[in-house]
Amino acid sequence: MNIIVTGGAGFIGSNFVHYVYRERPDWHITVLDALTYAGNRANLEGLDPARFTFVEGNITDAALVDRLVAENDAVVHYAAESHNDNSLQNPRPFLDTNIIGTYTILEAVRKHGKRLHHISTDEVYGDLELDDPNRFTENTAYNPSSPYSATKAGSDLLVRAWVRSFGVMATISNCSNNYGPYQHVEKFIPRQVTEILEGRRPKLYGTGEQVRDWIHTEDHSSAVLTILEKGVSGETYLIGADGEKDNKSVIELILKLTGQDPTAYDHVNDRPGHDMRYAIDSTKLRTELGWRPHYTDFEAGLKVTLDWYKDNQAWWKPQKEATETKYKVQGQ
Ligand code: NAD
Ligand code: TYD
Repeated sequence: MNIIVTGGAGFIGSNFVHYVYRERPDWHITVLDALTYAGNRANLEGLDPARFTFVEGNITDAALVDRLVAENDAVVHYAAESHNDNSLQNPRPFLDTNIIGTYTILEAVRKHGKRLHHISTDEVYGDLELDDPNRFTENTAYNPSSPYSATKAGSDLLVRAWVRSFGVMATISNCSNNYGPYQHVEKFIPRQVTEILEGRRPKLYGTGEQVRDWIHTEDHSSAVLTILEKGVSGETYLIGADGEKDNKSVIELILKLTGQDPTAYDHVNDRPGHDMRYAIDSTKLRTELGWRPHYTDFEAGLKVTLDWYKDNQAWWKPQKEATETKYKVQGQ
C-alpha cells in the first residue's frame, strides 16, 4: 500500500504516521502538509526515506493533490485548521482548508478512483447536556456550534455527497478529544502542563464543568488503521474510549501529577458558545470491525504525556509565547 497522509506533520497525523510506519513495514507513506503554525517537521524525524516521503504543500493546491493521488493507493485526510478558539477569532482559514481542501481531495480521488478515509470530530454533533443519558452515535443529527465544527461538519457532508453522487470509495470517522505527545500548546492539556513548567498557573475556562471524552491518540491511530483496512465504503464510524472527564477534574489531576497544589489554577474568560459535553458511543466500531482501545487508564496515559512535555521542552518552547500572547488578548 502507498498512502498519503494529509496533515501528517500535525499532532494526530504525525502520531498516525509513526503508528503505521511501525505496524505496516511494507507500506510507503507520503505526508502532504503545508506546515502551518500547527505543523512541525520535527514530528517526523528519523523515518527511512525508502518508506517515507515528505511533501510541503497545501491541500487546496489542486494540481499537486491530483499528482500525488494519482501516484498512491489511498488518502488518509487529517489536514485541518483544528482549534475552536482560533476559529472564533478568524474563521476564514477554516473554510479554506476544511471545506475547499476536502473538496480538492474529493475531486482527485474521484478522478483517479482512489480510496479516501476522512478524519473528523465528534464536535459535528454539537453538545449534550451534562445529565443526558445518551451519547453520540452514527445516527445523531449534525448540530455544530463553532466555525471549526461547522466547517468539519461541512467537510463530512461533502464526503457523503461524493460517495452517493459519484461513487467515491470513502469512509469517515468522528473521534473524541485526543491527548498524547506532539499536541500543540494551544490545546487544553499541553497548555496547562507547559504553563506549570513555565512557573505559571493553569487556566480554566469559566466554571470548568464542561465534559470532554478523552482518548489517547495511539488508540485513535489503531482505530483509523482498522477502518482503512476493514471499513465499508460510505460508512461513518465513531471513535471513543469511554473517557469522559470534566475540565476542572483534568486540571486538578494535572496539578496533582506534577506535584503542585491541586487548587493552584486560575479561572479565565469562558469560550463564547462553549460546548457543554461530548460523549461517544463507539459500539459500531467495536462490534462491526472488532476494534478495542488499549489506553483505558486515563491517569496513567496523562502521566506519560505530562512527562513527554517535561522531557521535550525544545519542541514546544518556540510556540509557547506567541500562543500565550494570543490568549492574553482574549482574557484567557
Ligand atoms: P493540528 O492542528 O495539530 O494539525 C493539523 C495539520 O494540518 C498541521 O500539520 C498543519 O500544518 C496541516 N495543515 C493545515 N492546513 C493545511 C492545508 N491547507 N494544507 C496542508 N496541510 C495543512 O490538528 P490535530 O489536532 O492533529 O487534528 C488532525 C485532524 O483530526 C483534524 O482533521 C481534526 O479535525 C481531527 N480531530 C482532532 C481531534 C483533537 O482532539 N485534536 C479530535 C477529533 C478529530
Ligand atoms: P480544547 O483542547 O481546545 O479542545 P475542544 O475545544 O476541541 O474540546 O479544549 C478542551 C476543553 O478545555 C474545552 O472545554 C475548553 C477547555 N479549555 C480550558 O478550560 N482552558 C484552556 O486553556 C483551553 C485551551 C481549553
